[in-house]
Amino acid sequence: MENILEKITSLAKRRGFIYPGSEIYGGLSGTWDYGPMGVELKRNIKQLFWRSIVQQRDNIVGIDTAILMHPRVWEASGHVENFTDPLRECSTCKKRFRTDALATEKNKEGLCPSCNAPLGETRQFNLLMETSLGAVENGKQKVYLRGEITQGVHVNFKQVMQSSRVTIPFGVAQIGKAFRNEITPGQLSFRSREFEQMELQFYIQPNKKEATRWFDYWKQERMSWYQSLGLSKKLLRFREHKPDERAHYAQSACDIEFKLGNEWKEMEGIHNRGDWDLRRHQEYSGEDMRYFDPESKERYIPWVIETSGGVDRAALFFLADAYSEEKTDKETRIVLKLHPQLAPYKVAIFPLLSNKPELVTLARSVYDNLKAMWMVDWDDRGNIGKRYRYQDEAGTPYCITVDFDSLNQNDVTVRNRDTMKQERVLISELPDYLTNKLNTSNNVLI
Ligand code: GAP
Repeated sequence: MENILEKITSLAKRRGFIYPGSEIYGGLSGTWDYGPMGVELKRNIKQLFWRSIVQQRDNIVGIDTAILMHPRVWEASGHVENFTDPLRECSTCKKRFRTDALATEKNKEGLCPSCNAPLGETRQFNLLMETSLGAVENGKQKVYLRGEITQGVHVNFKQVMQSSRVTIPFGVAQIGKAFRNEITPGQLSFRSREFEQMELQFYIQPNKKEATRWFDYWKQERMSWYQSLGLSKKLLRFREHKPDERAHYAQSACDIEFKLGNEWKEMEGIHNRGDWDLRRHQEYSGEDMRYFDPESKERYIPWVIETSGGVDRAALFFLADAYSEEKTDKETRIVLKLHPQLAPYKVAIFPLLSNKPELVTLARSVYDNLKAMWMVDWDDRGNIGKRYRYQDEAGTPYCITVDFDSLNQNDVTVRNRDTMKQERVLISELPDYLTNKLNTSNNVLI
């Protein structure tokens, strides 16, 4: 796995997908910045999630809640008490390790992987990140940066019900930042201390039959979504959690895992949270969190089926799956075979020569036209072969070259990233041609 991670790390930095956070100051462990390519990839992932979960369904609405919440929220949610990882600390170098990650022979003897000194006993370490609110030094209030984006949805359950016309079963989706004081962040952005989640909280009638039905439904929906965006079926699997691995709020849990190198890694969790969240918020806030069922005339606390994906993990796995090296006699071609809807740029436009104003003018008009519909790049530097390679590495599905024939024939050469095949297409037909090939509609700028 190190191999593919090393390759992705190098490409991600070189081509502006992902940079280490605060690098000019030596970096800040567990933080990552997204460059010009990475920000587009991430926006596309989030936009496609939103379209598939909120905009294309009639029983799911969206929400965008504050990162900072009343500290009682985290007592009610059980995170203050239970949101912990087992940790062992080295008695000499003071480095800390997750007990579950200490699996080598040396560690079985309880020795530090870094300096070989004895490790302390396992203790539970809370992952919630603390900060404080208020300008007055001794009047500051301790608050947490949210450890999951979920609680913002549940505390607004009543408001959403009252301000929209949703009836059970219905869902509330959210995308946003979450923070965890991870003991050992690493593997590029896989385990970060600041990351983004894309979630759905789906409220259902409180019984096992409904829970099983919707749990299975959402497992399949989410798996299909990843596959529809090009993740290889053979690199994806479900993994059910055993009772002793489940989070404190979960009655059942299943991960969608991706195979990175030789290791299966969690990408998204599907959880049956039962009535845990609403019941606890009712208890801690004193608010009635019950739902009135207009058909049965009953009041009850709904159960929740949750889908919780990591945007950063999805981005990392889309990059890993798309990365390919093709060896020819002369060179190795590095190509990101990203699904067109995920690709940062859909098309790149090249005037064959940058010092021929008639070519540049025509290429500019093609560029301006297509830019109204998609993210389009412009490149007039170096030879065409080099420009192709540059776009291949960024995952751009199509490159268009405007040459001398274009001036008379009003057509251009369109080159496919994956097959490297080229064909002539009339300039007037480019929007339809690309819409068809990119599998996007003209009015959606992704
Ligand atoms: N609301 C439920 C919840 O937060 P989780 O399994 O703790 O469940 C859900 O997290 C997803 O969030 C994970 O499957 C993963 O994709 C992402 N995630 C969790 N911790 C992360 C971290 N430290 N860095 C990057 N992504 C993380």
